[in-house]
Amino acid sequence: MKKQNILWTTLLIVGGLLFFWLVLLKLILQLKKGRGEPCPTSWSWIVDNPLRRWDVRHALDRAGLRAGETVLELGPGPGAFTVDAARQVGPTGRLIAVDIQPGMIAQVEARVKAAGITNVETHVASAYELPLPDASVDRAYLVTVLPEIPDPVRALREVYRVLKPGGVVSMTEEFLDPDYPRRATTIAWATAAGFEVAARYGNWWNYTLNFRKPVGPA
Ligand SMILES: C[S@@+](CC[C@H](N)C(=O)[O-])C[C@H]1O[C@@H](n2cnc3c(N)ncnc32)[C@H](O)[C@@H]1O
Repeated sequence: MKKQNILWTTLLIVGGLLFFWLVLLKLILQLKKGRGEPCPTSWSWIVDNPLRRWDVRHALDRAGLRAGETVLELGPGPGAFTVDAARQVGPTGRLIAVDIQPGMIAQVEARVKAAGITNVETHVASAYELPLPDASVDRAYLVTVLPEIPDPVRALREVYRVLKPGGVVSMTEEFLDPDYPRRATTIAWATAAGFEVAARYGNWWNYTLNFRKPVGPA
């Protein structure tokens, strides 16, 4: 066998085995966790590890965070994106992280403290009752959060309330998530909450959809 063929065969076998184990893990998690339940704090290692961070590495770029913005991160979990997002909005901006689980927010706070960042505000709260005034944030992003919420449209209506007119909410979903929703489902939820599609990225394995709150009355 040629050297090149051996290399390709090895790559195919290793890639195939990795894919098999990841899909098996997704199925096991699907069985363990009911739909519409938050990902337990003890599963932080599953959402925050180098392989997973690599798989969703485009989430923040696609969300289009800008310096000086006030940004809501809904469902930060252990905070895999929080520090990078806070750096992107910079010292003149503000990153507001809201999660329903105190254990997740504690991990975010430890991470932010270790990074020496001071522009992050944290809240333990439900997506249904965001502790923020109307039209107070420029942008929001959610990475694999919405399908964990029993009533995603209600949660998106609340995001709509706190966004400024013209503000954008960005949602990233990945196939390996046990709650993965198809793009059409995410679009249906967002349009039911009053949003307009602003941008689409990615593919069936991993996608980001950005939605805009219209400037005029809903
Ligand atoms: C799968 S984790 C994703 C964490 C992070 N966004 C990431 O991609 O690494 C989903 C997070 O959403 C939070 N969450 C689920 N339901 C929620 C709700 N109703 N309100 C606020 N946060 C919620 C969970 O507690 C969990 O931390």
